[in-house]
Amino acid sequence: MKKVKAAFIAHPLNLSTLSVITGWPQPILASIGMNRIKKYIARKRPFIFNELTGIRSKTGTQIDLIGVACPLMPDQMASLGTDFVLGRIVESAKLAQKKGADIVILGGFTSVIGNEGEDVARAVHIPVTSGNTFTAGLAIQGIETAMKMTRLKNIDKFAIIGATGDIGSACANYFSDKTNHLACVARDQEKLLKLAEKIASSHSTKVSCHRKVSEAVTGADVIISATSALTTIIDIDALKPRAIVCDVALPANIAREVARKRNDVLVFEGGLSKVPFNDQIVDMKWRTLMPSNAVYGCLAEGLVLAFEGLLENFSIGRGNISQDKITLIMELAKKHGFDLSDFFCGDKFYSDADLKFIAQHANDDSPSIQIQERLVAYDRA
Ligand SMILES: NC(=O)c1ccc[n+]([C@@H]2O[C@H](COP(=O)([O-])OP(=O)(O)OC[C@H]3O[C@@H](n4cnc5c(N)ncnc54)[C@H](OP(=O)(O)O)[C@@H]3O)[C@@H](O)[C@H]2O)c1
Repeated sequence: MKKVKAAFIAHPLNLSTLSVITGWPQPILASIGMNRIKKYIARKRPFIFNELTGIRSKTGTQIDLIGVACPLMPDQMASLGTDFVLGRIVESAKLAQKKGADIVILGGFTSVIGNEGEDVARAVHIPVTSGNTFTAGLAIQGIETAMKMTRLKNIDKFAIIGATGDIGSACANYFSDKTNHLACVARDQEKLLKLAEKIASSHSTKVSCHRKVSEAVTGADVIISATSALTTIIDIDALKPRAIVCDVALPANIAREVARKRNDVLVFEGGLSKVPFNDQIVDMKWRTLMPSNAVYGCLAEGLVLAFEGLLENFSIGRGNISQDKITLIMELAKKHGFDLSDFFCGDKFYSDADLKFIAQHANDDSPSIQIQERLVAYDRA
């Protein structure tokens, strides 16, 4: 049987990832300065930045993976105009197709532009996925795992920032019958109201709509951030002590800031997966692009589909993530040896000792106990 080839379209998130993708040394990039670099990469066409051959899943199935760089920073994706940016993303997908890829996986902002892969799928003859179904499934699994760990049995208030988005709305639907109050945030209030009405029509949960993040997160036991915002948008002081915060956004737009300033909440970057071939990768580019064995859910979904030979537009368009699809991709992921990644934030994983400490103190009501006091997870230096 022909080995499936998957292509991951990646874009740099910062100077460090740009250095890994291009091979240009970071100190040289830093000396050139971000503004000049951005001008330069805006003229640079997509290119292949590396290739992994014969990576194996738990079932022994092998696939090849190529990395296609779409060299634009997140703020360039948001500011250079849809036609130009979509043009670059389509060019990346066409390059993948030319190199023999059987499926295109859209990483980070390359799916946010172009209606979650719909526009790209129309431009190429191979399937495309945004990876959002598995990402939503992993975010949900991460929150449920965090709840078990901290022995949080009931969610009185659940806040979703970016609730009308593809991942946010899937999480809103899932948690709507598992909380007393779902507080939803987005800028477009008309869209938000429609979502709230839809949820309220089939669930008894109280649903509230907010433009201000601080209103929604005040008193929330669990918060998920799945926005396409480029900067930190959370009001950190408004977080309830011992809240669970899952940040799915890329670049992470609240997790690192929360970890830096609040040591009494469990905050992690969600939507990350362990992969079955971690020890097969010797390629330094892949090794340094992502934390060890915590691969973005979007990439992981495409890999699962490739291992399974399920070559279809699995996740494209907004609002199409169903519970059945989440269940399917989670089952396929399990079959091929993909699992929820360990809790990660900033640039480190939480250690077993950190997690034990959190579990011990999670239900302690003493305000003087700061549950992450001893955490070594986040490098505060
Ligand atoms: N961790 C992973 O592996 C992984 C995988 C795939 C995607 N992602 C990331 O997940 C995030 C969401 O992706 P998506 O595809 O669901 O995006 P999306 O469909 O475009 O949704 C974005 C949501 O964020 C809201 N939003 C944007 N800016 C906001 C702001 N300043 N304040 C409040 N809400 C804001 C949007 O509503 P309004 O425009 O109305 O505000 C919308 O509800 C992105 O950062 C993406 O890169 C991560």
